[in-house]
Amino acid sequence: MPNLQAPRGTRDLLPSQTPAWTRLERLAADLAARYGYRRIETPLFEQAAVFERGVGAVTDIVEKELFRIAPRTEESESWALRPEPTAGIVRAYIQHGMQTLPQPVKLAMTGPMFRHDRPQAGRYRQFWQFDVEAIGDPGPAVDAEIIELGHRFFADAGLADVRIHLNSIGDAACRPAYIETLAAHYRPHAAELPAVERERLERAPLRLLDSKDPSMAPLNATAPRITDHLCGPCREHFDAVQAHLAALGVEFSLEPGLVRGLDYYTRTAFEYYLEGRQGQQQALGGGGRYDGLVELLGGKPTPGIGLGLGLDRILLALEAQGVPPAADPALTAVVVGADPAATADRLRVATILRSAGIPARAELGQRKLGKQLESAAKERAHFAVIVGDEFADGQVQVKDLEAGAQKLVAIADLARHIERAQASHRHGAPVER
Ligand code: HAM
Repeated sequence: MPNLQAPRGTRDLLPSQTPAWTRLERLAADLAARYGYRRIETPLFEQAAVFERGVGAVTDIVEKELFRIAPRTEESESWALRPEPTAGIVRAYIQHGMQTLPQPVKLAMTGPMFRHDRPQAGRYRQFWQFDVEAIGDPGPAVDAEIIELGHRFFADAGLADVRIHLNSIGDAACRPAYIETLAAHYRPHAAELPAVERERLERAPLRLLDSKDPSMAPLNATAPRITDHLCGPCREHFDAVQAHLAALGVEFSLEPGLVRGLDYYTRTAFEYYLEGRQGQQQALGGGGRYDGLVELLGGKPTPGIGLGLGLDRILLALEAQGVPPAADPALTAVVVGADPAATADRLRVATILRSAGIPARAELGQRKLGKQLESAAKERAHFAVIVGDEFADGQVQVKDLEAGAQKLVAIADLARHIERAQASHRHGAPVER
């Protein structure tokens, strides 16, 4: 084992794996464009306050998992790697005066996030999210649109058996009283609670509902449900979100225990799970409404909603379901030749092909022609272009490695010849591996 390794909880995405990633990134970009979400990029690191205030100082994400950056010099700023994109996007919305644009402002991003969590299958310290945010629309129709967008992503990717879990977690008008009721339910049992849960009871009682500790199951099963304690406007909003989803034909199940691990949520909260995988805390994605976040980060009161899908977990799920990974784009032509001194000629021919948009590699080493042809075939190149004696007369041999035929072609005609041959052999599509 080499001494230097990628940090625990991170992975290298190797060329054999990146086609599957590229495919998901393209699906994400296409979907965002189809739904009218425009690309935004924010820095990978922000002032830590963006996350402390936005995500919430007493969340696991900030308290335990934030990668804080130690600056080299004494600086007053305290920075952190982004654990999620929403707080940074909202910071950008405020900073760039996007309140003055027609609302809602619909934004999309795909990129890496960082959480110093305990690494395990499907949980990484650097992971990728596809994120969309609609800022400036109180809903409920846009809530349904976003939930449906997430659902559509799974369908486009070819992932089966994804279930939508839906809840409303109320707002500033009704949640405080509910949290009191909830705490009163657990308090008589405080002494028997595991230490982590006892602490939650004091600091964030809502998170008790999300406990992974099996000893909590009986108490959680009898806990008061937030959906029985919603105020009138939250109830109305939640009913309307469900009616919109029903009108779109999107199925969902109501999960009163779904509370999400970030503090900025109000009202609509949702997660996507593979059928039967809920207990393992392996959400494929999640999101919700955050009507207080813009104000919390210093903007005018503005409602918002968004979602984040976990691309790492989605890829694992696609693999587990046997959805074929995207094919590596095959190299079309390899330019070979017997003369070891003729590398410049081979490069020139490759350049001609590349200028015409044809993927090509030139053999620049000193190997025998037979070996060069062998590796061209191994790479699944469609054509070998052989630069030989005819080159002086402006010609090369073109060997169709799939059909086996060989032909003398004028260099001036080379690109057109290859394009025509590809079309007639219907080999235009990438070769399946
Ligand atoms: P989140 O639920 O914390 O929400 O993350 C969204 C998704 O990212 C998760 O459902 C999961 O698939 C993936 N994920 C989270 N942590 C990890 C990890 N350590 N390793 C691999 N995948 C992970 C958010 O981040 C919100 N910003 C979503 C949102 C957008 N809400 C409103 N707008």
